[in-house]
Amino acid sequence: MKVDLSVRGMRDYFPEIYYRLNRIFRVWRETALSYGFEEFDGPVIETLDLYRIKSGEEIVKQLYNFTDKGGRELALRPELTPTIARMVSRIQNEVPKPIKWFSIPRCMRYEKPQKGRLREFFQYNVDIIGEDEGIADVEVISVAVDSLCRLGLSEKDFVVRINNRNFVSGYFSSLGFDKRITGALYKIIDNAAKVNSETTSSALEELGLYRAQNEAVRKYLSLKSAGDLKTFEVTNSGKEALLNVFSLLEAAEINEFCAFDPTVVRGLDYYTGTVFEIFGRSEKMRAICGGGRYNNLLKEFSGVDIPACGFGMGDVVLGEILAEKGLVPPYEKSIDYFIVRVTDNELDLTLKIARSLRNRGRRVEYNYKLIPVKKQMARASRVRSAKVLILGADEISTGTVVEKDLATGVEAETPIKSFFE
Ligand code: HAM
Repeated sequence: MKVDLSVRGMRDYFPEIYYRLNRIFRVWRETALSYGFEEFDGPVIETLDLYRIKSGEEIVKQLYNFTDKGGRELALRPELTPTIARMVSRIQNEVPKPIKWFSIPRCMRYEKPQKGRLREFFQYNVDIIGEDEGIADVEVISVAVDSLCRLGLSEKDFVVRINNRNFVSGYFSSLGFDKRITGALYKIIDNAAKVNSETTSSALEELGLYRAQNEAVRKYLSLKSAGDLKTFEVTNSGKEALLNVFSLLEAAEINEFCAFDPTVVRGLDYYTGTVFEIFGRSEKMRAICGGGRYNNLLKEFSGVDIPACGFGMGDVVLGEILAEKGLVPPYEKSIDYFIVRVTDNELDLTLKIARSLRNRGRRVEYNYKLIPVKKQMARASRVRSAKVLILGADEISTGTVVEKDLATGVEAETPIKSFFE
């Protein structure tokens, strides 16, 4: 009887899947490096408290947590931001700011597996720590935009929806909303982009808002662009910061990828100023990316005010969008040389030539077990080898091997010593 011992929501990365992932990782890495970010990583396991205190209720519900053999309450990392805050607080006195770090951790969340959502995923994290200027917010948005463009996507495929938490909280507190209502209100606002206006209306009614408050929420939700924001009668520091970010996005020539969106407030507790999410334009799916400013998080660890901003971009939704757009190159295994030997007398030379070529950066294979030459040739084609080297007693006696180009069929006699020069 066949027994399936795989775990729900976990992923088996077969070579063709890993090949696609590796391409994404390569682009992520090269883009972050091109902006001067340094790669780092943290542990896979952290204390449960780190998330209980730092991430907020939503993430804690989704934790894979356990008690270890020493009775410690631990969790598999669902995200990297609390780890960054914990790590930076240990060294923040010694390193010059801003700290620009990126990482591609494997994260685990106990969510209901569905399209775009799994229990295990990779998440590209790009963060700037120790910089409060709006230009840092724009820089991380720019890394995200460039990464997606370098994977082949354009402004027709995705949009960065931007808002500012201080703008939203400042606006609602000026209207006299108390803290209890604000929490529930954020949930309704966050949901407004995913449901129809009637659902939003009835959710607002259930909150028991005064008429004037209800009107104010509607007015807020009707803001559609940075232009609307400019003429919106409210003035607060969050709005100013937001408008500054939009003008910097224009200067950085990435404004066509970006839009103001009042429904973006972000579910994680630690966000303070700028917040953003990136969505595919075509289908309603989970966000490709989410991030923003978290100016208070590091203070909780270090006692010192250290502003920070960054984002997390998952591989799952992104992988689906790339596949949908036909932007996934076909997987083909290929090598440079396949060495065919006529008898095992040539095994010794096979190994030596293979080693020498591999040390020069060539990809080389040969059959482990001696099988007929014809079958070895068939295997060479199957693994898409560019060339085949044929080693037999006759060739060796003349100090040469037959080198065959499998694409053209052209054969040449190559001196054996040339493989060792
Ligand atoms: P987040 O919005 O929870 O933010 O996640 C960011 C991205 O990770 C999401 O947009 C999504 O692409 C991906 N993601 C999250 N959960 C799953 C899942 N279950 N399956 C597949 N993909 C998923 C954060 O995690 C913040 N720590 C990001 C950040 C970094 N903020 C500042 N720096």
